[in-house]
Amino acid sequence: MLPLTERLVLRKMTEADTSSLAAILTDPIAMTAYEGAFTADEVAEWLARQRQRYAADGFGLWAATLRDTGEMIGQCGVTRQRIDDDEVIEVGYLFQRAWWHRGYAIEAARACRDWAFANLDVDDVYSKVRDTNIPSMNVAIRNGMTVRRRFITRYRGIEMPHLAFAISRAEWVKARG
Ligand SMILES: CC(C)(COP(=O)(O)OP(=O)(O)OC[C@H]1O[C@@H](n2cnc3c(N)ncnc32)[C@H](O)[C@@H]1OP(=O)(O)O)[C@@H](O)C(=O)NCCC(=O)NCCS
Repeated sequence: MLPLTERLVLRKMTEADTSSLAAILTDPIAMTAYEGAFTADEVAEWLARQRQRYAADGFGLWAATLRDTGEMIGQCGVTRQRIDDDEVIEVGYLFQRAWWHRGYAIEAARACRDWAFANLDVDDVYSKVRDTNIPSMNVAIRNGMTVRRRFITRYRGIEMPHLAFAISRAEWVKARG
């Protein structure tokens, strides 16, 4: 079962979510950490990539929808990611700017962290954050994560220093009491 929180339902994205997805990915401010807004083609590629992940892994970035109305306000989910030569399980989150600063991202991120530990045989759950992305770091910290290492990714021709935040299974169990 996919994550369900007090205010949000997480579900797989479909083609019908393209405009809600574009509201995030074509917003230059929301996409600062990705070096700017996506084109319509890049939005379609992003959606196709998540759908490939659902098919191959059984998880990916999911639509974060309001329980009350069904409106998609963001994306949050679990993906396989590389950090240098290692493959890790990551919780990722991107929300429409109109829905920032209301606690939805951390609510979804906690549920995705819990989903990952409950459903996957992993010792650690990560969140990769560009070293300039303070709001994203705050979500990771509120999700019980600490910085494990620094690494560089090359994206859109730019070298981007990143921080690898993570929480171990033991830390997760302890925090849940
Ligand atoms: C990263 C991102 C999802 C964080 O969004 P956010 O709105 O800062 O995070 P939350 O939804 O958890 O909201 C937390 C804020 O809401 C406030 N808040 C208000 N009502 C709240 C409530 N009911 N519950 C919890 N927090 C609440 C908190 O105090 C907090 O404020 P602060 O960060 O100024 O201290 C958002 O900035 C984003 O989508 N960025 C673009 C995409 C991106 O860069 N993603 C990360 C890639 S690594």
